[in-house]
Amino acid sequence: MKQVLSTLVIHDMKNSLALLEMDLERLNHRKNVPMEAKDAYLRCLELKSRLINFLTVYKSEQFELEPCMVEVDITDFLEELVDTGPSKIQAQKRHITLCLTEAKISSEVKYAGIGHFDAYLIGLALESALNNAVRFARHAVNIWFEQSQHSLNFLVSDDGHGIGTETQGADSPSTGLGLELCRAVAKCHHGQISLVNAHGGGALFNMKLAQRSYSRLRPPRCALPACERDPS
Ligand SMILES: Nc1ncnc2c1ncn2[C@@H]1O[C@H](COP(=O)(O)OP(=O)(O)O)[C@@H](O)[C@H]1O
Ligand SMILES: [Mg+2]
Repeated sequence: MKQVLSTLVIHDMKNSLALLEMDLERLNHRKNVPMEAKDAYLRCLELKSRLINFLTVYKSEQFELEPCMVEVDITDFLEELVDTGPSKIQAQKRHITLCLTEAKISSEVKYAGIGHFDAYLIGLALESALNNAVRFARHAVNIWFEQSQHSLNFLVSDDGHGIGTETQGADSPSTGLGLELCRAVAKCHHGQISLVNAHGGGALFNMKLAQRSYSRLRPPRCALPACERDPS
């Protein structure tokens, strides 16, 4: 199949999926929604994120990703991810507690809690790490960040069986797409990912991003009091 045609078909599928998502979301807002409707909505969200992840990884292999770097209040960003991302629904369904825990910020950081990254791409990658953690956790998943002068780490831990154990993921086969997406997103931020067994059990995912130093630049916009921010 010609590349142009396959691109058109995939984007057409993505748009149809977005319409289906809207239909199912409306259905789920009705009173006394049957369990099947909730499951269908969740499946649709999962399918949509897998398709978006696939397209993002494909793009990174063909052209390299060009991150749109912006200044971000990291706590606000993570709160939104935890409160509104598809992993929240999955966690509720599996009775897993999904928590944003306290950040660790080293004292030399000039603008504590403010990061510089592509919020859309990092959101996709972290959602995918959360999806894995919720899938394998027994009771709890935590997400937090650690910031030093030149790097920003996003961490996701779970209390599952850890990596490479037989009990994990028997319900759905692995594609490897989630971690591939995280690798591609980290790479375009001059960063890297790791997934290891945590000391206390479970798995620990870490996405480390390089951060520019603000010491010789103007302060980031979101670090300024609202009255001093440039409205542009
Ligand atoms: N939190 C985790 N705990 C245990 N194993 C994990 C975890 N995250 C990822 N893995 C392992 O890495 C594999 C690849 O993950 P991923 O790339 O997201 O693909 P998929 O989600 O399709 O399996 C998983 O199938 C699993 O074996
Ligand atoms: Mg995954």
